[in-house]
Amino acid sequence: MEQLLQQIESYKQEISAFEASTADAVENFRIKWLGTKGLVKAIMGEMKNVPNDRKKEFGQILNEFKLFVETKFITLSENSSQLTTNDSELIDWSLPGDPVALGTRHPLSIVRNQIVSIFKRLGFAVAEGPEIEDDWHNFGAMNLPENHPARDMQDTFYINQDPAWLLRTHTSSVQARVMEKQKPPIRVICPGRVYRNETISARAHCFFHQVEGLYIDENVSFADLKQTLYFFVQEMFGKDTKVRFRPSYFPFTEPSAEMDISCLICGGDGCNVCKHTGWVEILGSGMVHPKVLENFGIDSNKYTGFAFGMGVERICQLKYRVNDLRLYSQNDVRFLKQFTGAL
Ligand code: DAH
Repeated sequence: MEQLLQQIESYKQEISAFEASTADAVENFRIKWLGTKGLVKAIMGEMKNVPNDRKKEFGQILNEFKLFVETKFITLSENSSQLTTNDSELIDWSLPGDPVALGTRHPLSIVRNQIVSIFKRLGFAVAEGPEIEDDWHNFGAMNLPENHPARDMQDTFYINQDPAWLLRTHTSSVQARVMEKQKPPIRVICPGRVYRNETISARAHCFFHQVEGLYIDENVSFADLKQTLYFFVQEMFGKDTKVRFRPSYFPFTEPSAEMDISCLICGGDGCNVCKHTGWVEILGSGMVHPKVLENFGIDSNKYTGFAFGMGVERICQLKYRVNDLRLYSQNDVRFLKQFTGAL
């Protein structure tokens, strides 16, 4: 038994003298003494060799020893965590952090969002429709029956397997979808992508974006159309922008008009963008044709409406002076990261 007491005594000396300068050393201490195969466990196992009359005495000694080791371990751990704190003081917290690279919105999204937010303030709701459309919604319902010459105005992509389906050529198809579901009063704008079979160049693309507008109620007049679009132009391009309407033709409106604004690039003096006229066309519009209303069971004696459709790329071109339509779909970050006015 005396041997056991001596052993404990020498362990205690070893432990008292032990110092750790790293977290690893502390962990090794724990494994050596307190681990499942550690020396504390081993020496506890000696209890079975202690004669019964001394078991109580030795039990106490061994428990004290265990507590001694545990206390040492706690002290070592605390010191080592201080070591870490000291290390971290070496970090210069005033250094700038790693920058998080933020993307920018696509210019077409920025402009579309601006258009939408202006019309929302006038009480218009947003409606959307499918890009793969049937002949009826894109053409028939919009007063362009089969063989109507005006269908040639828009070079259509038909679906090979079933030419009853096509890629919508204009967002006017969404007008049809709204009138199908909703009764007047109707006040919607419909942003979306449209497709036309055009050779890609700086001035034309096989897909582009439009925002359509539709307002149907009792007593809606051409004056309402003009005032709404005039408000839009002032909000979008500034108070000094001039507006003019020119008579035009669309099968789905009567009368129809195209709207020009004074050229923002040259201020009306004449440049390439306005083809030296000082004016740029930005949208088509008109009073909804009675036949279109009747196609959806809307009484054209009771209700009237106006509609318009504008090209988002054209407006973007004027706002940001982008002179090549292809830039919008090339995804060149050098182009895209210039547009920071995100909305
Ligand atoms: N859908 C026409 C186009 O794609 C634009 C347009 C003109 C839409 C007059 C309208 C409208 O709603 O009234 O060129």
